[in-house]
Amino acid sequence: MAAPQGWRQAVTTLLELKSLDKRFGGLYVTRAVSFALHAGDRMALIGPNGAGKTTLVNQISGVLAADTGEIWLRGNDVTRMSQAQRVRAGLARTFQITTLAPHFAVQRQIELALFEREGLTGGMWRSVDAYPSLQEEAQEILSRFGLRAHAAVATEDLAYGDQRLIEMALALALRPKVLLLDEPMAGVPKGDGKHLLAALDALPRDLAVLIIEHDMDLVFRFANRIVVLAEGAVLADGSPEQIRCDPKVRAAYLGN
Ligand SMILES: Nc1ncnc2c1ncn2[C@@H]1O[C@H](COP(=O)(O)OP(=O)(O)O)[C@@H](O)[C@H]1O
Ligand SMILES: [Mg+2]
Repeated sequence: MAAPQGWRQAVTTLLELKSLDKRFGGLYVTRAVSFALHAGDRMALIGPNGAGKTTLVNQISGVLAADTGEIWLRGNDVTRMSQAQRVRAGLARTFQITTLAPHFAVQRQIELALFEREGLTGGMWRSVDAYPSLQEEAQEILSRFGLRAHAAVATEDLAYGDQRLIEMALALALRPKVLLLDEPMAGVPKGDGKHLLAALDALPRDLAVLIIEHDMDLVFRFANRIVVLAEGAVLADGSPEQIRCDPKVRAAYLGN
């Protein structure tokens, strides 16, 4: 639905980082990182290996506590909240299939995420048939990701690229407002990435997405905003065009 001409749509800030620091021993791995993510943003977080990208995502999702600084999610200070509380507040990152139950069938895996979302985890395997709407939703998600034919296959038996797809499907099953993707294409053979790219393109429009990705073609195709991290600090934050032309970025990372 297009807004009328001259009408500026209100910007909804979903995630705000305020001067986040993380030290391991004496080493600052993130330092004074501040930026905001708005509804509909497609932000790529880029930077050399060891820049602190994964550490930053771990702080945002609550895997790691920030030493100093604040994390605000949809107007609430979540800096001290647990991972589960942040998920309930609308933040999701991709699960690692390997940390879940890889022997479960694909459909069960999705149902498990839906049950968790609905707080139905107690005695769920006995009662899964009592929730046909969740079974339907799981099937709908599988169709959306082109995985319907694999519904009964154990996730560990899927091709690597399809496992990454499942990880994204599981995160989306939580109906997040903010989605964090840490190198979703890593290790996926070139030819197997097309479903994943299609899934990225089909993400709900209002969702705010932060993606860590090394493939610059993908970054510049997907992102409407890029943050460059170098030695734990924000080196640049701007539109793809601004980042492409930034001499600091070229020197530190993009090369020529
Ligand atoms: N748990 C940890 N303990 C000590 N150092 C760590 C730990 N996790 C990451 N680091 C260090 O922090 C730096 C940033 O790592 P990371 O966030 O994984 O970078 P990136 O994802 O940008 O490649 C690296 O130098 C890494 O060795
Ligand atoms: Mg990393």
